[in-house]
Amino acid sequence: MGSQKKNLSCFLPLLALAVVLSLCLGFVDAATSLQKPVKLQWHYYKHHNTCKNAETFVQHQVNQSWSNDKSIAAKLLRLASMDCLVTGCDASILLIHGPDAEITAIQNRGLGGVLLIHKIKTVLEQRCPGVVSCADIIQLAARDAVHLAGAPSYPVYTGRRDGMTSKASSVDIPSPSISLEAATAYFKSKGLDVLDMVTLLGAHTMGRTHCRNIEDRLYNYSGTGKPDPTMDPYLSEEMKKKCPERVKKGQGDPLVYLNPESGAHYNFTESYYRRISNNSAVLGIDQQLLYGNDTKEITKEFASGFEDFRKSWALSMSRMGSINVLTGNQGEIRLNCSFTNKDNPYLK
Ligand SMILES: *[C@@H]1O[C@H](CO)[C@@H](O)[C@H](O)[C@H]1NC(C)=O
Ligand SMILES: *[C@@H]1O[C@H](CO)[C@@H](O)[C@H](O)[C@H]1NC(C)=O
Ligand SMILES: *[C@@H]1O[C@H](CO)[C@@H](O)[C@H](O)[C@H]1NC(C)=O
Ligand SMILES: *[C@@H]1O[C@H](CO)[C@@H](O)[C@H](O)[C@H]1NC(C)=O
Ligand SMILES: *[C@@H]1O[C@H](CO)[C@@H](O)[C@H](O)[C@H]1NC(C)=O
Ligand SMILES: *[C@@H]1O[C@H](CO)[C@@H](O)[C@H](O)[C@H]1NC(C)=O
Repeated sequence: MGSQKKNLSCFLPLLALAVVLSLCLGFVDAATSLQKPVKLQWHYYKHHNTCKNAETFVQHQVNQSWSNDKSIAAKLLRLASMDCLVTGCDASILLIHGPDAEITAIQNRGLGGVLLIHKIKTVLEQRCPGVVSCADIIQLAARDAVHLAGAPSYPVYTGRRDGMTSKASSVDIPSPSISLEAATAYFKSKGLDVLDMVTLLGAHTMGRTHCRNIEDRLYNYSGTGKPDPTMDPYLSEEMKKKCPERVKKGQGDPLVYLNPESGAHYNFTESYYRRISNNSAVLGIDQQLLYGNDTKEITKEFASGFEDFRKSWALSMSRMGSINVLTGNQGEIRLNCSFTNKDNPYLK
């Protein structure tokens, strides 16, 4: 098992030796924890005979939803990432009570995936009442939806339990204009390394963002009064048409595709990395990957080969999915993903 992991982790053949060493050494350590993701289990609900077909029910609902609306892949991916990165994968992102619940603090709206999670939960409560956590549903649904969009599937170990507080003090999703150094430190604080960061940012291969997240790049980069010099001038002109400078209060804040090449198809491909390589990334943080020592090498590697990106995707998603999970007697199994059982108005 160990050597298999090592092979997987050193799949970046074209990297300079020093980079390979530094990345792979760190990666092998981390990959070891992926072998036994904390206390989660492979097919937990089947194994414990509590809800044998839980994963099939989830996949069925995701399939149906995706066939109506491809954007569900990007939405579920964002939901799953934010849940794990904000407080750990405990579904606290779904709690709606309290003035400072995570969900109200998230910069990006577009949490349409929430509705699908509720639908899946309703089905599971009918089939296997009180058994399957919202936290597991989020991770399983995101895996299946993004797979339909073209990403590899990967094992989602299960047995997570749901958090009972919406720990708002740790809401800290960084702005898309964050510096590369700060982004690296942020991922590191979550136990994720540079390879994970470059890989997980690949989520921006699909989906949309608000113009306000790029207006600094288009109109006033770092207070210079000029566009970001690292943005391809043609792209910059195109984006300015879609995101007119906001001069009046109450002026709209349109949505633009994070990767115009994937656009309305919501395709999961390596085109995101190709666009970074020729200065055509939409978000500032994405473009900066081309200007960091290790991030540049990884970006070039992914741009030239979808396979490497796919393998890394499976590993990094799996690692992100085990951040601060609750298991055993921790937390609870929520009956409605929006409320802790104590605060659930339907249980009163
Ligand atoms: C979901 O769709 C995929 C791809 O079409 C298919 O392989 C899978 O069997 C479907 N799953 C369910 C539960 O319908
Ligand atoms: C859970 O709560 C939400 C928000 O109030 C509600 O819309 C939904 O119907 C509830 N779901 C179930 C299964 O009770
Ligand atoms: C650009 O930003 C700087 C610093 O925030 C500000 O002082 C300046 O007025 C802005 N320039 C324009 C043209 O908006
Ligand atoms: C993107 O998705 C569309 C529609 O599903 C498909 O026709 C197209 O071939 C895909 N492109 C890539 C690069 O995968
Ligand atoms: C950058 O690369 C993308 C993907 O290969 C391509 O579609 C786009 O035209 C390129 N842009 C420039 C300015 O070369
Ligand atoms: C990149 O490497 C150079 C030379 O080793 C170093 O001075 C610089 O701080 C590094 N930059 C980053 C972002 O790590």
